Amino acid sequence: MQIQLESQPYSSIQADALVTYFFDGDNKIDGLLADINRGMDDRLAALASGGEMTGKQLEMILIHFPEGLDAKRLLLVGAGKPNKFATSDLRKIAGAALRYLKSRGVKKFIFLTREGERGPAAAQAVVEGLVAADFESNKYHTEKKPDREIQSVSLAGFDAGLGSDLTSAVDNGRVIAESQNFARDLINEPSNHLTPRMLAAKAEAMAKEVGLGVEILDERKIAELKMGALIGVAQGSVEPPRVIVLRYTPENPRPGAPVLGLVGKAVTFDTGGISIKPANNMEKMKYDMGGGATMLGAMRAIAFMKPPVSVIAVIPATENMPGGRAQKPGDVQVAMSGKTIEVINTDAEGRMVLADGICYARKLGCTHLIDAATLTGAIEVALANVHVGAFGTPREYLDKFLESTKAVGEKMWPMPIDDEYREMIKSDIADIRNTGSGKGGGAITAAWFLKEFAEDVPWVHLDIASTCWIDEGRPWQAKGPTGVAIRSIVDFASKL
Ligand code: BES
Ligand code: MN
Ligand code: ZN
Repeated sequence: MQIQLESQPYSSIQADALVTYFFDGDNKIDGLLADINRGMDDRLAALASGGEMTGKQLEMILIHFPEGLDAKRLLLVGAGKPNKFATSDLRKIAGAALRYLKSRGVKKFIFLTREGERGPAAAQAVVEGLVAADFESNKYHTEKKPDREIQSVSLAGFDAGLGSDLTSAVDNGRVIAESQNFARDLINEPSNHLTPRMLAAKAEAMAKEVGLGVEILDERKIAELKMGALIGVAQGSVEPPRVIVLRYTPENPRPGAPVLGLVGKAVTFDTGGISIKPANNMEKMKYDMGGGATMLGAMRAIAFMKPPVSVIAVIPATENMPGGRAQKPGDVQVAMSGKTIEVINTDAEGRMVLADGICYARKLGCTHLIDAATLTGAIEVALANVHVGAFGTPREYLDKFLESTKAVGEKMWPMPIDDEYREMIKSDIADIRNTGSGKGGGAITAAWFLKEFAEDVPWVHLDIASTCWIDEGRPWQAKGPTGVAIRSIVDFASKL
């Protein structure tokens, strides 16, 4: 899909459709829309007064052969109440418009922004919305759908006087959304097409393509480093584990400057191990590498955007299988840090692989940490598929991260991590146990387990178990992997 900034007047651009948006306010037909309405003999005003055009968020009004426009269709998208509108809503509006028009066979359209949204932030949001909405996966269908393809989108109405600020916003928007789509492609892959070794090979290829440093730790190196928690999980599978390490170094790094560590859970399939999961929905556990894919996507975007901070990604990758050598409930494993873990439930494997991932990231010199993981079913109970559960210490560090989530329009909610929950992972026989002893608070005890390895290093933990994959599509987003958290992490890295 081509995306270009257009300086020609919108009314004389040839296209299959022209898209713009309008608000649920007293005066729906104002500004730009008033101009379009004038060319159309007041027909928009008639729609508005007739009650057919309310401005409700993502309401779609399609008009064929609009008078006064060279485009063949006019699509008006509801933008909701004007006082609730934010620039990041443009992502949904542009994305929903793309999916609506794509399903109708449109090949080329114009996105006309409104007065007040003419700058780089708006342009970036629109491009992100378009590119992410264009994502779909039909890799394993042998009969492909008829060619429904958006070939080109022209961006109109933006402030051309902003010059290179505007073009770099368009470039950044594309990079970020393509990096989300890169992660989404990985998350979609079935586990027989994406073992830990295959994931490592794909990460390595991506790193070389975009100019990141890369090192893949194999099972020998992992044993040498005494990553006992990761090995404990991996030993139930015939597929050997890998640890993927990617490095981004800015030009002229300052000595003593912060180093951001991104640790992602990449369990390429989670059967639960000996504490095996029920068959129902188990196929979805191919997406248990979503945290690792998130960090690969973030690193890809960082490689292009070149923020002034060093970033290291550490991605422990393994299967969780109930093979003959599998770890068993009651086993005690010695993590890389030296801490001992009593394995109460082999299905609480994500925190174990992250324990060694976090420890290794610290060993590599990371001064600040973010981890992302499809860690607990409990986070779905707490937040459904709306918010990512965000944990972290110290609180100021978490708050700074949450500012990034707001800036990029990703919903995340701060979760508590009070000392009372620490009691629940005490073990009779080892330093900690891998599940909570109490009832409830499952996402929080999991986070506490990770904190035992992050210790005093500023750390944010994102539980994306319920947000990394959606079972039903949204107007602006296909069903399946969402690519959530990448935008926030990239924004945060650029501000650290
Ligand atoms: N990968 C799962 C968490 C998960 C559940 C991700 C649903 C996506 C959708 C994780 O490894 C797991 O099994 N967690 C257990 C922990 C429990 C045994 C303490 C859970 O949440 O049930
Ligand atoms: Mn599990
Ligand atoms: Zn898991």
